[in-house]
Amino acid sequence: MALSPLLSLLPLLLLLLEVPGAARASPREALPEGAAACKAGGLCLQTPLRRAAAPPVNVSLYYEALCPGCRAFLIRELFPTWLMVLEILNVTLVPYGNAQACLWDQLERDAAFLTIVCIEEMDDMQANLKPCLQIYAPKVSPDAIMECAMGDRGSQLLHINAQLTDALQPPHEYVPWVVVNGKPVKDESQLLYLVCQLYQPLLSIQLTPTHSVKPRVKFHPKSKNLAPLGMVLR
Ligand SMILES: *[C@@H]1O[C@H](CO)[C@@H](O)[C@H](O)[C@H]1NC(C)=O
Ligand SMILES: *[C@@H]1O[C@H](CO)[C@@H](O)[C@H](O)[C@H]1NC(C)=O
Repeated sequence: MALSPLLSLLPLLLLLLEVPGAARASPREALPEGAAACKAGGLCLQTPLRRAAAPPVNVSLYYEALCPGCRAFLIRELFPTWLMVLEILNVTLVPYGNAQACLWDQLERDAAFLTIVCIEEMDDMQANLKPCLQIYAPKVSPDAIMECAMGDRGSQLLHINAQLTDALQPPHEYVPWVVVNGKPVKDESQLLYLVCQLYQPLLSIQLTPTHSVKPRVKFHPKSKNLAPLGMVLR
């Protein structure tokens, strides 16, 4: 009896576990079309996405590492949006913070994004760099990132990111500053809606809320090595 609420949550929990695996291999190639957008949440793309049917929506985030409003946006808006529609997003992070600038510079994009979200979820950047890298970029040593952060490369990246932020047109007024397809977004809680709106007309896909979350990863002859649940990190 007591188990049944838990059991009904199980698919969701398994989906959450699946995220790092899905993100590890470039999702655009590794997953059947549309599957990544479907499996991650209550929104499901009913019509399969066609690769290259439309350019991705550019979402850039200008922020300061560990600023409370920036963390809230990254964790509660950008990350869930990314999980749901990662196939149609081109996320760029422009952090003001050496270590995160180094992560963005030195890691593959999805790994950098997930590592930064992981770090921002916790309070202690120094303590969490290592476990977060271990999960999302096990081949990258935390020492190399810290060396970058403390050294010339870190300062250089910080300078570049400050310049990118200062060059924004219209100028940024606060952080987090969110730019979607070149235009600032004032209501950050509407990110998913906005992204879908910007992408939809080009593709004529339907975003339909579904009441249950079901894994929809289908096996594709070319992706036999993709376990649908609990994928193992390389
Ligand atoms: C993604 O955004 C970067 C800028 O951050 C840009 O250089 C790149 O061309 C964009 N990719 C696509 C497919 O739009
Ligand atoms: C995304 O950014 C890239 C690089 O700036 C640009 O070439 C592309 O047109 C942008 N895509 C959209 C949909 O605005």
